[in-house]
Amino acid sequence: MKHFWIGLALGGALAGAAVAQQAADTVQPEGATATTVAPASPEIAAALAAKDEGRPVEADHWMIAAANPLAVEAGAKVLRAGGSAADAMIAAQLVLGLVEPQSSGLGGGAFLVWYDAATGQMTTLDARETAPLEATPQLFLDAEGQPLQFFDAVVGGRSVGTPGTPALLGAAHARWGKAAWGDLFAPAITLAEEGFEVSPRLAESVAGDAERLGRFETTASYFLPGGAPIQAGQVLTNRPYAETLRLLAEQGADAFYAGDVARDIVQAVRGAEGNPGVLSELDFATYAVKERPPVCADYRSYEVCGMGPPSSGALTLGQILGMLEHSELNALGPKEPEAWRRIGDASRLAFADRGRYMADSDYVPMPTEGLIDPAYLAERAKLLEGDDALPEVAPGTPEWDHAELWGDDQAIEFPSTSHITIVDGEGNVLSMTTTIENAFGSRLMVRGFLLNNELTDFSFATHDEGLPVANRVEPGKRPRSSMAPTIVMRDERPVLAIGSPGGSRIIGYVAQAIIAWADWGMNVQQAVAMGHAVNRFGTFDLEAGTPLEDMLEPLEAMGYQAKVQELNSGLHAIEIGQVLKGGADPRREGIALGE
Ligand code: GLY
Repeated sequence: MKHFWIGLALGGALAGAAVAQQAADTVQPEGATATTVAPASPEIAAALAAKDEGRPVEADHWMIAAANPLAVEAGAKVLRAGGSAADAMIAAQLVLGLVEPQSSGLGGGAFLVWYDAATGQMTTLDARETAPLEATPQLFLDAEGQPLQFFDAVVGGRSVGTPGTPALLGAAHARWGKAAWGDLFAPAITLAEEGFEVSPRLAESVAGDAERLGRFETTASYFLPGGAPIQAGQVLTNRPYAETLRLLAEQGADAFYAGDVARDIVQAVRGAEGNPGVLSELDFATYAVKERPPVCADYRSYEVCGMGPPSSGALTLGQILGMLEHSELNALGPKEPEAWRRIGDASRLAFADRGRYMADSDYVPMPTEGLIDPAYLAERAKLLEGDDALPEVAPGTPEWDHAELWGDDQAIEFPSTSHITIVDGEGNVLSMTTTIENAFGSRLMVRGFLLNNELTDFSFATHDEGLPVANRVEPGKRPRSSMAPTIVMRDERPVLAIGSPGGSRIIGYVAQAIIAWADWGMNVQQAVAMGHAVNRFGTFDLEAGTPLEDMLEPLEAMGYQAKVQELNSGLHAIEIGQVLKGGADPRREGIALGE
């Protein structure tokens, strides 16, 4: 079914792209002509075969991997024309906002990690959504001071933070763009005006969320026209989105933060029936992308770098890997329950620290360096030396020059989000995770895009046993994230770029893929495709329909609670070596493409 849809959806759009192993064998240097590659349909089939059969897509010059073939092709077109990874990201993100609107878009936020080939520098940009200046720590408490039910908080205006994605597109282009800004909008505008085929995943998501999507008229009329959910294969246009894109193409990203766009969003948020929010135009006028120091942690011969606070992604990932540095995972291998015990308990220990210490470091002091100090992690790793599941897991005491007692976080996180990985012709590397938080965000739609519900990534409770929670809501603060856009370095060169959606399981998905690639010798496609086993808070989640189901009994015998369930990662990875090798998660609709 999936093959059929992608073949139909792309038609001739992929002509000229060398997308798979068999095509890569015949790839010519830049300027390769159609004679070097098969016609469009076989190429698409080949790309899918590579994904399904566990072979990476290979290319010599550039590559992009993302969650939808139309978005990948928009980015590939830019790269083929000599555009930078930042240019390609902009084109891909704008298409994702149309064809995968449930996961990311102009109404959301993102974190971007960039390796600059010319300078060897790594830059991380924080375009996280931000709490309104009128918000209080009680935002998600009811009249009795009790935390709201999750979806009572999500649906409507209350959960909407000031979007950061449009500002990030502008900031990335200003720093690293080579193509004309306006040209990058063309693929998305064309698709929005002429229509795109609704993917099976989008159609399923709409059908599964019809009640909530039906609560607001603008959202309902787009996703449930005439009361019925849009169907896979149906051609859908989005003229309001095309108009918004034209405005930004002509006037720049700043046009999002002033004038009619900001006003319309504020009106929708404050006017949301039953659950209004407090966003104001001042929040838009004061929004800024923040450059943050990258967080890098050692693992074996690698340095694993990513996004620091307000994301917990790189710190928690660095903690997990830093503890596992002391385990012989390569000797154990993925079939050994003992390997999963160590991975699972290292993750539980890291999540305990995450729940206590990690939040927006502009608002709360954080022991950022102490959390990934190898000496601290070596001490924590000693807790992994038993044979059974740790009976109790508590936060540790990382070195810190600040005395403060915190309660533990109680944020609820459900999976959605999207990840884009790109290497351009000059060797620049981009890893960006992009989100509107829950699938379809707040369910409010304005000017053709959905508004995020990112504020529900804050802890609803403000205190825990009398102590303040670091990740509580505060005006102008950014909610803690789990997004982990990552670039792995070796000898100061990038060797792997990777990331995933998946709520707080993102961290486990990325950690596991890096272990599979670095310790278990899997190629990048095998590493993103392998079954998942994730443990954050005690229960082992084992992916249904994969060999990891076999871990249920041995892990239970070690004392874990374990549950077999679907685990919807969306890993997109590129290995950077003599050739580029791309992997796209078979659980999503994406592909890797390169030439
Ligand atoms: N809302 C997903 C995340 O930021 O982790």
